[in-house]
Amino acid sequence: MHNQTMTIEVFDQEPHLFAGDLLVYPVEEDIPQLAETGAAVNRLLAQVRETGDFKGGKDQIFLLYPGLSEGAKEQALRAKRVLFIGLGKQDDAINVRREQLRLVGGTIAKQAATVKAKEVLVVLPKDFLLDAAEIAECMSEGLLLGNYRFDVYKKPKEEDGPVRVERFWLHPGGLAASAVRTGMERGRALAGATSAARDMANQPGNGWTPTEFAEYAKKLGKKPRLKCKILDKGDLQKLHMGGILGVNQGSALPPHLVILEYKTEKKHPTVLLVGKGLTFDSGGICVKPPAGMEDMKYDMCGGAAVLTTMQAIAEIGVEGVNVVALVPATENLSGSAALKPGDIIRHYGGKTSEIINTDAEGRLILADALAYGIETYKPQAVIDVATLTGAVVIGLGHHYTALLANNDQLAARLIEAGGQVGEPLWRLPLGPEYRKQIDSRVADIKNAGSDRSGGTITAACYLEEFVGETPWAHLDIAGTAWDFTEKSYIPKGPSGIGVRTLVACLSQWQPLKPAEKK
Ligand code: BES
Ligand code: ZN
Ligand code: ZN
Repeated sequence: MHNQTMTIEVFDQEPHLFAGDLLVYPVEEDIPQLAETGAAVNRLLAQVRETGDFKGGKDQIFLLYPGLSEGAKEQALRAKRVLFIGLGKQDDAINVRREQLRLVGGTIAKQAATVKAKEVLVVLPKDFLLDAAEIAECMSEGLLLGNYRFDVYKKPKEEDGPVRVERFWLHPGGLAASAVRTGMERGRALAGATSAARDMANQPGNGWTPTEFAEYAKKLGKKPRLKCKILDKGDLQKLHMGGILGVNQGSALPPHLVILEYKTEKKHPTVLLVGKGLTFDSGGICVKPPAGMEDMKYDMCGGAAVLTTMQAIAEIGVEGVNVVALVPATENLSGSAALKPGDIIRHYGGKTSEIINTDAEGRLILADALAYGIETYKPQAVIDVATLTGAVVIGLGHHYTALLANNDQLAARLIEAGGQVGEPLWRLPLGPEYRKQIDSRVADIKNAGSDRSGGTITAACYLEEFVGETPWAHLDIAGTAWDFTEKSYIPKGPSGIGVRTLVACLSQWQPLKPAEKK
């Protein structure tokens, strides 16, 4: 598995001594001077402003070649190019300011690519009304995620020069260097995990199978505090996990239930994460139409999000909570033993389900994992992440992840976390009216309603059957896992969504208050 190396370091000399390809100054609109940088660059900026061509407005850029201009000798800029880039005006909302920095970071990466820069130094803005660590974190995320490429199967031509920046440097500007380092390291871990999730999603169905999920988790299991267990087909049979086994019947590749545990102290509560790891969804016997079927290699993005969340929290060192991630992993194909409409399966724990549509397979594999995870780990809360329904793309498009939850506190925390990191969530209702749509005449429930109405909600109702009283939230990322709102740091294709939201939520974890009985 190719893994993007996330190279970003703190530059501890004066910026004018940087002799690399591109020296970047993010500039705030309406703020005339750059904080604590040399006279030469401030003179340059004053000249540029005088022309009226650059005001520091959002996304405004101004590229110059300082070698061609004169500067005071002692502070002459050594970089090949200088880029002034507009931050716009500081927004009143803190989450918008965070996003302003990520967007600028992404734009810098794009500009660096157009001039084929290998080494880039960014001088951080000072008074951006965020802690130094957050400024460095958001900027690092934007730079590294904007620099993301997937070229495992199609190597860029050598004569075209570098397609991505080899190394970013951050200069603290007027900020405290130690805080900048802490924030940068957090940003690097988050961008690394998000890029790893994008890599998994970009891999085709024959490049990322359930076994690759297991191998990746085993490697993560070597990190401090992480422990990996893989349940194979035989284990799943012993545990009577009829959902995962049922979906797997049509595939020649064996299924796995991937388990990763992040351990701090026993006295801390456990949060359980469950991610849909469907490495290719053909629909099974209820086969999908061929147009666009190739996109169903992305049906494992929930699994990718929860595994790489574990990677990030292990690197960052989240405290006060234990975390367990489960990824049920299989393909959904239509081999001769495949599940058929009308078949009845028995889930882990004994609940039976009538298969109405073999393409509603995500809920089948998640149900086993939810029931097993809750019984085994007795978590304080459960969050599952899945590309579960086409209906969510109709309802919310590609801009909001759907959130469904049986607990208001948990729902509020996820909405807050998503807002902080630029991954917005929108809550949809649950309720007995919807639950009734999946009543079966012959089994405890059926896996699809008799019509498509409320498809995202009825899918969540199915999952809710397996969580009992445990506070639970479900994120349907079918619309946002790929072709999420295009931004400078979010390319077309897989977004790596969910990782940064989950890490934000887990980093701030406080015990949940007992829910009021409705
Ligand atoms: N993996 C799909 C959901 C999906 C659709 C993800 C489009 C991304 C883009 C899921 O397994 C599925 O096929 N769901 C069906 C359920 C239906 C048969 C009840 C759907 O949404 O059509
Ligand atoms: Zn499906
Ligand atoms: Zn699916």
